[in-house]
Amino acid sequence: MKTEISTSQKKSFFRKKPLYLFEQDIKKNELRKVLGKWSLTAIGIGAVIGGGIFVFTGTAAHYHAGPALALSFVIAGIGCVFAALCYSEFASMLPVEGSAYAYAYGTVGELFAWVIGWGLVLEYAMGAMTVAVSWSGYFVKLVHLLGFDIPFWLRNDPFSANIYAQQAGLEKPMFALNLPALLIVWVVTYILVKGIKEAAGANNLIVVLKVTAVLFVIIVGIFYVVPSNWHPFIPEATVITGEDGTPRQAYGWGGIVSGASAIFFAYIGFDAVSTQASEAVNPRKDIPFAIIVSLIFCTVLYLLVSIVLTGMINYKEIVGEALKAPVAYAFDKVGQTWAVYIITFAATAGLISVMLVMMLGQTRVFLSMSKDGLLPSFFHSIHPRFKTPWKSTLLVGLIVSLVAALTPIDVLGEMTSFGTLFAFAIVCIAVWLLRKREPERERPFRVPAINIIAPLGLILNTILIWQLSALSKQLAIGWLLLGLIIYFGYGRKNSHLNKIELND
Ligand code: ALA
Repeated sequence: MKTEISTSQKKSFFRKKPLYLFEQDIKKNELRKVLGKWSLTAIGIGAVIGGGIFVFTGTAAHYHAGPALALSFVIAGIGCVFAALCYSEFASMLPVEGSAYAYAYGTVGELFAWVIGWGLVLEYAMGAMTVAVSWSGYFVKLVHLLGFDIPFWLRNDPFSANIYAQQAGLEKPMFALNLPALLIVWVVTYILVKGIKEAAGANNLIVVLKVTAVLFVIIVGIFYVVPSNWHPFIPEATVITGEDGTPRQAYGWGGIVSGASAIFFAYIGFDAVSTQASEAVNPRKDIPFAIIVSLIFCTVLYLLVSIVLTGMINYKEIVGEALKAPVAYAFDKVGQTWAVYIITFAATAGLISVMLVMMLGQTRVFLSMSKDGLLPSFFHSIHPRFKTPWKSTLLVGLIVSLVAALTPIDVLGEMTSFGTLFAFAIVCIAVWLLRKREPERERPFRVPAINIIAPLGLILNTILIWQLSALSKQLAIGWLLLGLIIYFGYGRKNSHLNKIELND
């Protein structure tokens, strides 16, 4: 078949995947198309509501925004809504599993696409590792509440176990691993290999559980609100001692913006819906629906939780242990200790679906990159009976479980935010460029006022990247550079665009 790629384009770093190749991929799809619009929406909610809302709210209120935490949620929410609209336009045009990677390949070219695909590993695989470690923390707490204790060397990675031993005056263990984190990743991997229907079924159940828990926090918590805790709503900007012991600027409008970056992790996940395009029954309509509905639903819940939390306890009191579990602490403080059980149980169950969707997303992005030749064919080997990319799922499961069990990955959680914000920013540029370049292309979903929304989405998401810690930015950039080495060593040579026929 003749293509629209010319010789010079074929060599260019900005060579684009032609539309007809995406259409061929859609026709050749081997995955099972079983996801309807509500299952897709549940996938979005399943990925978004996790530990973030129960954990980062404390740090963001105490060190950044004070009672104005809800405004931080509004700012991060707006950045996400803009990105969600842009994802939706793309998903309606190119309903393929590669998400931001595929959109970039069709618009801004192969090099950008690779960088985004590689950056998405930070969001999905590293996100899953971070969440597995937080899950383990909740699980350990849950079994403790039930009267059992897991030995410290079986619930901590070796580095954290040594620190724990030192602080507790115990002997350093010969061997340590975070066993709960390792095991939960394998449970999730098993579900993912078995089939998308099973995964969606498990996800739906967990979503109902965790949404009930969040509603519970809001409805019960409201009775314990002391309005004076909201005054002053925006505390005057000042310098305080930060989490790392160094002085830092806090509160005021600057604190609200840095707070938006601190809680951004809580929003991560709705974009993973777009990686399910090949398994959706009617992707062009249902993926935009699910992305937007799940994000709006979670934003409303988050706003309510942050208003209730900052009304229940004064942000100045969220220190020490309370920073790790502010919502549970707030209920404990007002004498509702039993609420701690519900929150701990909900977070334990809730984080499983976050992992499920993150690992699902990771394998689908790899699938797309591998179909394009940028990764080995191993990543698109589909199981004959389960119709899932089983080899890739097992490999992702192995790596995620080992890293979660053996390294203090939770420190690197911010890299997940970097990968996500980076993809958001590029999707905003790409959708805008494509509107300008190919205005007549069919778009079942269109971003309204694109000339305002796309640039604002780009600016807002870039500001949030800027607010991340210097260490996470350096590590993320190191990761992207490693990606470039792999691209030049493998992807560029094996790209299927090298093989297709020329028209000149
Ligand atoms: N948004 C997800 C969470 O908060 C990643 O756990």
